[in-house]
Amino acid sequence: MPQSTPHAQTQAPPASPSTPSAQPSPSSPSSPSPSSPSSSGATLYGGARNRRVTVRDLARAKERGEKWPMLTAYDAMIASVFDEAGIPVLLVGDSMGNCHLGYDTTVPVTLDQIAMLTAAVVRGTSRPLIVADLPFGSYQESDVQALRSATRLVKEAGAGAVKLEGGERSAEQIGLLVRSGIPVMAHIGLTPQSVHAMGYRVQGRGEEAAEQLLRDAKAVQDAGAFAVVMEMVPAGVAGEVTRALAVPTVGIGAGPECDAQVLVWTDMAGLTPGRLPRFVKQYAQLRETLTEAVSAYASEVVSGAFPQAAHAFE
Ligand code: KIV
Repeated sequence: MPQSTPHAQTQAPPASPSTPSAQPSPSSPSSPSPSSPSSSGATLYGGARNRRVTVRDLARAKERGEKWPMLTAYDAMIASVFDEAGIPVLLVGDSMGNCHLGYDTTVPVTLDQIAMLTAAVVRGTSRPLIVADLPFGSYQESDVQALRSATRLVKEAGAGAVKLEGGERSAEQIGLLVRSGIPVMAHIGLTPQSVHAMGYRVQGRGEEAAEQLLRDAKAVQDAGAFAVVMEMVPAGVAGEVTRALAVPTVGIGAGPECDAQVLVWTDMAGLTPGRLPRFVKQYAQLRETLTEAVSAYASEVVSGAFPQAAHAFE
């Protein structure tokens, strides 16, 4: 199994047809889970379900000091689970390359793939803000190329916002998208689309690198980004950036002082095989659970124990 990204490593998953009944209806959102911290509607996590979360809600959360969770999602059914659990922001990340499409890096992921899976995540949810990643090669050429790509994700796939990598170097693209009415989440620190140039190393270490990180964060905020993802940067530096910015920071391997946290869902749920980056905490062991379920099913088919009369028609 290749271990080439800090996000996730996996082989391509098998296709699994879904039942129409498993899709939640966008017009009938489910109630907040019992474990949600609030049903008053004021909070981001587990708050009111009468409309989608917007970038303005995220700004207000920063003002009142509320931390919030974000997860990746790549299909309608899993996204519906995260919606039911009250997650306010879902990222259709290009990490799908590693943990959904069987690539070793995020570099090969295409705009078509992001658009298709974003549309699925939008269909499967009613409340979270859906952020679609602009994949490598879909925005670096010019601000106009960025606008074309982002417009497709918003218009065709139904994303509420897009995310792109880069600090100062991407400020021009961010500026045009924001002026055109497309909310942009920026991504600085370790930027996996640049793996061939920077590798998968902690960024922002040392005085000079920390100053550059702060300049990057301010540049994307000034360009109009509504939030800034910081990946694999020292916790102290991330805290400093968080205090310096008016917009929320979203950490992944950036310590506890960020306004929000994001993890790749297959990593945090224990589905990703192999060694995981240090910043991942696993909250379940889905790979083990699924392997046990599949093995039990297979054994029963082989032994003839399944199906029984209850599973058959007269
Ligand atoms: O693609 C992705 O999943 C990401 C997050 C991990 C921030 O960029």
